Amino acid sequence: MYPFFFLHLTDPHIAPPGELLFGQDTNARFAAAITAIAAEASSTPFAFAIVSGDLARDGEPAAYQALTEMLDALPCPAHLMLGNHDVRASFATAFPSAPLDADGFCQQAFDTPAGHCILLDTLTPGAPHGTLCAARLGWLAERLAEQSGPVLLFLHHPPMPIGIPGMDAIRLLDGEALWAVLAPHRDRIRHIFHGHTHRALAGSWHGIPTSSLRGTAFEVRFTAGKLAIELQAPIEFAMVRCDADGIAIHLAAAPPLA
Ligand SMILES: [Fe+2]
Repeated sequence: MYPFFFLHLTDPHIAPPGELLFGQDTNARFAAAITAIAAEASSTPFAFAIVSGDLARDGEPAAYQALTEMLDALPCPAHLMLGNHDVRASFATAFPSAPLDADGFCQQAFDTPAGHCILLDTLTPGAPHGTLCAARLGWLAERLAEQSGPVLLFLHHPPMPIGIPGMDAIRLLDGEALWAVLAPHRDRIRHIFHGHTHRALAGSWHGIPTSSLRGTAFEVRFTAGKLAIELQAPIEFAMVRCDADGIAIHLAAAPPLA
């Protein structure tokens, strides 16, 4: 049962084949991460990978199709989530077996030895910020009510500011509504994993540990000024090790592209 390992990847921003993002080959960067993960998997039994949104550069059907093929090289199953650059309909066409809730949101919950994993859909179509409407929050409340064990929570948009004004303006805007649902269960929520920020981050929110990654595509700079990106950032992924009483998150990086 323990130790239990899984992977956290985020923000691959996959483009249609042959296309770039900010002049950078995000597809090659994501492929490099998968290659590095495959090497790690020879000695560590990762149960699955969670990819916490911004799967596509801009929701292109060809990008999702490319992603389906790239994931074939991943040495474990992938649980895919949506971010602000994703389009639900295009995603669902490319991944027809992806779980959708009764309202069509890309949300799911499943048990693991480390706890009940709950993956939320914070996508607001056409907007860079995230929201969790009453329907999605209601779904979350039901998932929390139907079991009493530990929980690992995943969402694309962070519910709290991180200190970069351009990023804080597009965080999960109804974070306090989320907290109202989580608060009665606060003692059993082990960790919140998020994406969106394109930063290697560790912190807490209402006392619950949080973490994120640069993502594989690019990094966002820490600045009080205009939002700026760093293209030469490490191609980052996280290896998560869970015990009964603790979680260790190892940030790792693939070799830079030639
Ligand atoms: Fe992103």
